[in-house]
Amino acid sequence: MELLRVENLKTYFHISQGIVKAVDDVSFTLAYGQCLGLVGESGCGKTTTALSINRLLPPEGKIQSGNIYLEAVNLTALSDDEIRKRRWKEISMIFQGAMNALNPVMKIGEQIAEAVVLHQQVSHQQAWGRAKELFELVELEPDRISGYPHEFSGGMKQRAMIAMALACDPKLVIGDEPTTALDVMVQAQILNLLDKLRQNLNMGLILITHDLSILGETCDRIAVMYAGKIVEMGSTEDIYHEHMHPYTYRLLRAFPHIRGPKQMPEPIMGTPPDLIRPPSGCRFHPRCDYAKEICREEEPGMTAAGDGHAYACHFGGAFNG
Ligand SMILES: Nc1ncnc2c1ncn2[C@@H]1O[C@H](COP(=O)(O)OP(=O)(O)OP(=O)(O)O)[C@@H](O)[C@H]1O
Ligand SMILES: [Mg+2]
Repeated sequence: MELLRVENLKTYFHISQGIVKAVDDVSFTLAYGQCLGLVGESGCGKTTTALSINRLLPPEGKIQSGNIYLEAVNLTALSDDEIRKRRWKEISMIFQGAMNALNPVMKIGEQIAEAVVLHQQVSHQQAWGRAKELFELVELEPDRISGYPHEFSGGMKQRAMIAMALACDPKLVIGDEPTTALDVMVQAQILNLLDKLRQNLNMGLILITHDLSILGETCDRIAVMYAGKIVEMGSTEDIYHEHMHPYTYRLLRAFPHIRGPKQMPEPIMGTPPDLIRPPSGCRFHPRCDYAKEICREEEPGMTAAGDGHAYACHFGGAFNG
């Protein structure tokens, strides 16, 4: 059953230098219990997409057009007050680098309990009980609940952040680079935990990362973003093995899979474009080995490549032959 539907979302930042088209016509859906990976290089609009769903954009950021439905409710149409009531309870977010924002002089358990008290009408004692339950849920040792952040490893702190995100049983959790600062083993453990939780709690999960190689065991579907647009979307299998967009191909080679064939990572040459003045036609054309005249002139639409698999390229699969 469908939980989230993002339709033709455009989110722009209005700054003195011009208009940054950070999210420019993005559409996707997510079902209950499903995990969608949102992947792409730095600055392609992943966090802006997540902040738009949460309606947590800074003042210069504006949803220009499009709709975001959580079940039947259009989040873009809600007042600030109405959306505030839904944050944490329906949608919650694990922010990029959030574990570094834990209060160093407050017990971890207290910080979780505080999050519970803030969003639910419960006593401090009940909140502490809920914090204990959440600790168990994220597989932290119960007697650590009275510990301070400096006594926690990075992985444990991230588990505590996940516990906070789950405090009010949200339907949708968005993890923005939830494992980026962690070593590979701990990263895998955290991803496994999130995977288990979304299945057991039947919640929708959006995992945001720049590293496409880590999504394989966790995500059902993957959306690849480039310069504010989704350039390819499909099942994890489609994206890993049947990709049609040259950018997906380059991104896969930039982060070789631990279990895949041994190869040196190949960085993608050049830098992502300036989103105030994005390139004409296909936004990837200045960095694409296969670009032809049409790529400079015409923006490619989405072409279907199978059930739920689509890509935006004039020469889909060109890199194969
Ligand atoms: N407050 C802001 N004002 C102006 N531009 C912004 C603002 N926030 C983000 N941007 C721009 O919007 C674009 C998308 O940024 P966003 O943070 O969504 O990217 P991202 O994919 O999350 O990148 P990263 O992997 O580095 O976190 C970038 O060009 C960024 O510079
Ligand atoms: Mg980001």
